[in-house]
Amino acid sequence: MKKRYLFILVTVLAVTACSSFRSGPKTEPAAEITTMAAFHAEMSGCQTCHADGSKVTVSDSENHENEQCVSCHGGYEKMANAALEFDPHTSHLGDINCTTCHKGHDAPQFYCNNCHSFNIEAMPFADVPKKAAWDRDWNQEAIQKAIAAGPVEKTDVVVVGAGSTGFNAALTAERKGAKIILFEKAPFTGGNSMLAAGGINAVGTPQQAKKGIKDSVDWFVEDTMKGGRYKNDEKLVRIMAEESADAVKWLESLGVNLDGLKRSGGARVQRTHAPANGASAGPQIIQTLRKVAKREHLDTRLNSRVEKLVLNDNREVVGVVVHGKHSGYYMVAADAVVLATGGYGMNKEMIAWYRPTFAKMTSSNNITATGDGIIMAKEIGASMTDIDWVQAHPTVGKDSRILISETVRGVGAIMVNTDGKRFVNELTTRDRASDAILKQKEGYAWLVFDEQLIAKKKMVRGYEHLGMLKKADTVEGLAKMTGMSALPETIKAYNAYQSTGKDLAFGRSDMPLNLTKPPFYAVRVAPGIHHTMGGVAIDPDSEVLDLQSWPIPGLYAAGEVTGGVHGFNRLGGNAIADTVVFGRRAGAHAAEYALKK
Ligand code: SIN
Repeated sequence: MKKRYLFILVTVLAVTACSSFRSGPKTEPAAEITTMAAFHAEMSGCQTCHADGSKVTVSDSENHENEQCVSCHGGYEKMANAALEFDPHTSHLGDINCTTCHKGHDAPQFYCNNCHSFNIEAMPFADVPKKAAWDRDWNQEAIQKAIAAGPVEKTDVVVVGAGSTGFNAALTAERKGAKIILFEKAPFTGGNSMLAAGGINAVGTPQQAKKGIKDSVDWFVEDTMKGGRYKNDEKLVRIMAEESADAVKWLESLGVNLDGLKRSGGARVQRTHAPANGASAGPQIIQTLRKVAKREHLDTRLNSRVEKLVLNDNREVVGVVVHGKHSGYYMVAADAVVLATGGYGMNKEMIAWYRPTFAKMTSSNNITATGDGIIMAKEIGASMTDIDWVQAHPTVGKDSRILISETVRGVGAIMVNTDGKRFVNELTTRDRASDAILKQKEGYAWLVFDEQLIAKKKMVRGYEHLGMLKKADTVEGLAKMTGMSALPETIKAYNAYQSTGKDLAFGRSDMPLNLTKPPFYAVRVAPGIHHTMGGVAIDPDSEVLDLQSWPIPGLYAAGEVTGGVHGFNRLGGNAIADTVVFGRRAGAHAAEYALKK
């Protein structure tokens, strides 16, 4: 049976079974029905999806509608369908809302195709693959009207953006006793953090002690400063290093497993903490934060884009204007606002302006990384730090938006050019590795590894599933398949270096694996925009600074929206450390400020 029909049949059976518990007429779907809304209305009326079919009001988060989907069809795990080649219901995005893709009254949106190019036809009432567009213009007239109408609600702290930074800020502020609203413009939470493959850098953890790894706050600071070309704000770096072990402990206390320890580029020892089973860290962290937020009834509003920071006559931040998917523009009064909106890696205009040489580069970022916080903070006179520093990650799958984690090299992969020759220390910093790749004659490279690595890094199975890997039983076979004629020689030499622990070619100090166990694999990689190091200037309390370096009262920021922590180049594993350490700091200071008012 064709996949498309199989999927629709399952849907019809599930809905029919469910509707027998509801009131209203049961009829077969008419042939001309073209939307999900019409299909469900035929069966039981609008209340199949909405709370009250006679007077439909839909909240921006669409919580009720999503709960209705799950109550009939089951959750993500139940919907997983082994018959599909790529099943969106087993996505790395985790348990996201049904209405992210399935639209009642519109054509469905294949949300995953914002990053992938799946040829998925199986969506009920599929029409054309539609992409989300978050970098559209803001409606200044509607914003001004909302301000003139005054606040419709009042809270202590508004947090803008529900990635790792936003969740950590909101949960911390709430524990301080503040009333919070967490706004997220996407139809589900997670931001860029949800895509973070590597892990969180920390020093002085039980994980490091167990492996006998000697490390220190000073080393963490030095590595980060050196990686950032000494352009980082050292005060901020030291805070991140000092509070990193506590950040790991906090995540673990919420339920995240961070027992795996690896080395990321630019770090002198293993300090990147990730799940023990080799899975990507970001999805696990976000899935846990989502669960905790739900359990603690954190007021989280989806499909709600904050588009303006509102100031009073004393130039204190006193609220925000929100653009809700269903509710339109409205103002919320707040004593403090935390910007946790992430970077601008997906805002083409900003990239072209600040880093024109990267204008045509692919990006590993979530489509929501459009620099909203930077734009809003600039509008009210915030100062920017290193705003034009953008990081290219050396190993984004060529012609894709899929990041091949640096930890794949950390665990043992080598990097070679199209002739099959190594050309750089694989674990150098990202800027150097990216430059080296771009200097190769084809402007791309291959990562090469064997079955031993796959056994250690579960995430690599995901790349295989996506059809990104070339695979052969022998090194010679892989060389032939990929045209890398020098590969057998290169691997022979590398294995010799690995056995003595001395890389005579490029001085790579960490070579955990040789390449001896078939099958052998290769994946094409090229640099892609990964992190925007610059952003809003903050002080150690996460207060946003104005052009004279005075704090803007009531405004806090943390994570990728800020500049200063990473200098000109961020080290792998420092982004999540930044989001947790400074997210918690921003939440705590914003709550204290708000509660004193
Ligand atoms: C990676 O795993 O390569 C990305 C992790 C990071 O950017 O910190």
